[in-house]
Amino acid sequence: KPIVMNLMDAMNKNIDDIIYSLLRNIGEKADKLGFKAYIIGGVVRDLVIGFKNEDIDIVVEGDGIQFAQMLAEEFGGSVRSHEKFGTATWKTDEFCVANKSYCREGLKFDITTARREYYDYPAALPTVERSSLKEDLYRRDFTINAMAIQINDSEFGKLIDYFHGIKDINNKKIRVLYNLSFVEDPTRILRAVRFEQRFGFLMDGHTQELALNSLDKIPAVSEVRIANELKNLFQEQHPVEAIERLAALGVWDYIIGDGVASLEVLERVKELKGVIKIVTNKNVNNQDIHITSPYDNDKYRFWICYLASLFYDNDQWLERVQRFTLNNDDVEVLNHIQKLEAIWQDKIFMQTSLGVIHRELYQFRVEAIIFVLTLTSDYRQQAKTIIEYLQKRVAIPALLTGKKLKELGIKPGPIYSEILFEYECAYLNGEISNKDQINYWLQSCIDDR
Ligand code: CTP
Repeated sequence: KPIVMNLMDAMNKNIDDIIYSLLRNIGEKADKLGFKAYIIGGVVRDLVIGFKNEDIDIVVEGDGIQFAQMLAEEFGGSVRSHEKFGTATWKTDEFCVANKSYCREGLKFDITTARREYYDYPAALPTVERSSLKEDLYRRDFTINAMAIQINDSEFGKLIDYFHGIKDINNKKIRVLYNLSFVEDPTRILRAVRFEQRFGFLMDGHTQELALNSLDKIPAVSEVRIANELKNLFQEQHPVEAIERLAALGVWDYIIGDGVASLEVLERVKELKGVIKIVTNKNVNNQDIHITSPYDNDKYRFWICYLASLFYDNDQWLERVQRFTLNNDDVEVLNHIQKLEAIWQDKIFMQTSLGVIHRELYQFRVEAIIFVLTLTSDYRQQAKTIIEYLQKRVAIPALLTGKKLKELGIKPGPIYSEILFEYECAYLNGEISNKDQINYWLQSCIDDR
């Protein structure tokens, strides 16, 4: 028997109003079609713990794709489906209407078909309804991620917890649902550590033993999948602790090989985190932002710097890290590190004008500069100005834009980037600090040419 309790209040409190009202609509629609519908996975875990999470996964006992299409017909928005997996994503657009109130654009709901057949014991007749949800939940990684909340109108908010997820949350435990979990998916070892660090939980003894016994399966996993998990891990709040924990478990032996994380490497990683924190000026201990990355995910690829730190002592570190890059930005960070290392000279520390430093460093990504900076011994003494430069550089306001130049009648061309670059230098030097000073500065900049 699953543990059942009602989480409607927690949903009301922790889910955005529009999403909440959409969930009520979705539940009513499911009633009309005779489907059972649930939110499931991470969002349920976070609701139980009391965190916000707007990444909504829905499972229906029925045809998930058809259901998503019906939602789009009734409320608007678009559907992308993957027939092969029985999954669909319903995305709202600006015209979506729910409950007579306007809906927000760009909300995403992943909708999946729950497996219909589930056998209570070998050769039993398949139990269709609850069991299909149960089987869907049973295939998941950890008990804390294997709970569901029903959203059909009459049962709205009913928590379904077959595998004691609530108990494990209370006991701060990460526990697998079945013994082959890590063997089937060794990336779950990295996920386990991610959730440990995020929530301050620990794997239970049996789960940790299963993880240790599956370490040798890690090399069979593609680099992309490992990289994705490492990116998720390093983008959270405790990359250093996660790296230490993975070292204690012996995981790095199977990813990095001979260059296992040493004390020296850990020191370097700590320095890296420290400078990232100062430069991005984000309070990484802020509890509110624990779910999402403390950094601007799209913009900065600090995760690849952490990985580079781990590989750095190896002669082939660059080639090794390159194999894990996930996009062009990652590749660019590594290229910039390599180029910067070659030209990095102590004279950069002598500069006192941020504009002059910008002329030297503007073409290098912030991530690469931070990485190379933390490699320089004694940088803390020397690098005050460079750190100040980076802090200011990541927050240069768009007081002057290409659009503005166009409005002023300047003919588009390479001159745009030249002027915008000069603007950056002037801003960094404190010559401009607000919008009112722009026109005057611009005139003198153009006159100088
Ligand atoms: N899942 C799994 N095994 C994996 C990855 C995911 O069983 N290797 C399941 C988990 O039940 C998880 C759900 O798929 O809750 C969704 O995965 P994902 O979005 O990656 O994780 P979340 O739990 O939502 O975590 P996060 O808060 O980091 O998004």
